[in-house]
Amino acid sequence: MHTRLSFEPSQTLFCDSLRTRKMSAAVALFVLICFTAATHAVHHQPCHSPNMTGIMSVMNLKGETKALGAFTYDSMGKKLRFRSNETFPTNTSLSLDLLMFFEEGIFYEIDSKNQSCEKKALQCTMHPLDIPDDGKFKGMVQTGNPSIEGEGIKLNVWTGPMPDTKGYYYMFSTMGCLPVTTMYFRDSTPLIFSQMNIENEIKDPDLLVVPSFCQGQSVEETPEGTVNSFLNEFI
Ligand SMILES: *[C@@H]1O[C@H](CO)[C@@H](O)[C@H](O)[C@H]1NC(C)=O
Ligand SMILES: *[C@@H]1O[C@H](CO)[C@@H](O)[C@H](O)[C@H]1NC(C)=O
Ligand SMILES: *[C@@H]1O[C@H](CO)[C@@H](O)[C@H](O)[C@H]1NC(C)=O
Ligand SMILES: *[C@@H]1O[C@H](CO)[C@@H](O)[C@H](O)[C@H]1NC(C)=O
Repeated sequence: MHTRLSFEPSQTLFCDSLRTRKMSAAVALFVLICFTAATHAVHHQPCHSPNMTGIMSVMNLKGETKALGAFTYDSMGKKLRFRSNETFPTNTSLSLDLLMFFEEGIFYEIDSKNQSCEKKALQCTMHPLDIPDDGKFKGMVQTGNPSIEGEGIKLNVWTGPMPDTKGYYYMFSTMGCLPVTTMYFRDSTPLIFSQMNIENEIKDPDLLVVPSFCQGQSVEETPEGTVNSFLNEFI
């Protein structure tokens, strides 16, 4: 059975008020391929990811790898550290070290090299490590051949709108609620976050602690019209 998805044309926004254009046909095709699986008319509540350590890549559909690096996520405290790592053999266009406190609504942009950081307010807390509470279960997909040990994986698909916008996301997670891939459609350049090599624990809790050189810093004022979010760091 094939599930056909219809996409709202154009005017999708991305956690803010950026101008947008038509969604690329390639994305639509990709999503359609992903959905060539049976959907189940079952009620599913979004699950919440466990504590995690892993690797995350961020790509747009222009073929740019925006960032690639290690992440640490505290699912209870809703804290995330992500450091894009220039030593990976990929050209990334961004060098980032972010420490996010989603509950408190603040985050730090850290520059370890010169021991400086900027503390900012978060206007949008959407991020790809956890399914939003109002995420809607879209169906289950089976990649590879799940009936052969090690040859397949079952994924749940979740979807929902971006906060305050007409944009939307598709999030693929394992049965154990580990994030696999999330696509955010801001149709000129959709962003794709993928997580790999996940371990269900926080390996280095210090990564979720504000570095001493950032402490006592005051929150920078957010310029008019700017929306700070984890996602917007990758535009
Ligand atoms: C997740 O990590 C936090 C911070 O280290 C810890 O307080 C919490 O107990 C951990 N949760 C689980 C389920 O291990
Ligand atoms: C970057 O990647 C290298 C090789 O995988 C690793 O040894 C190093 O610890 C990483 N650095 C950060 C900041 O994640
Ligand atoms: C990285 O980018 C530079 C300049 O754009 C290019 O010359 C080089 O081949 C790229 N390297 C890789 C591994 O893609
Ligand atoms: C640290 O480096 C960044 C980027 O190289 C620069 O923008 C910033 O001004 C530097 N901060 C300090 C305190 O030197």
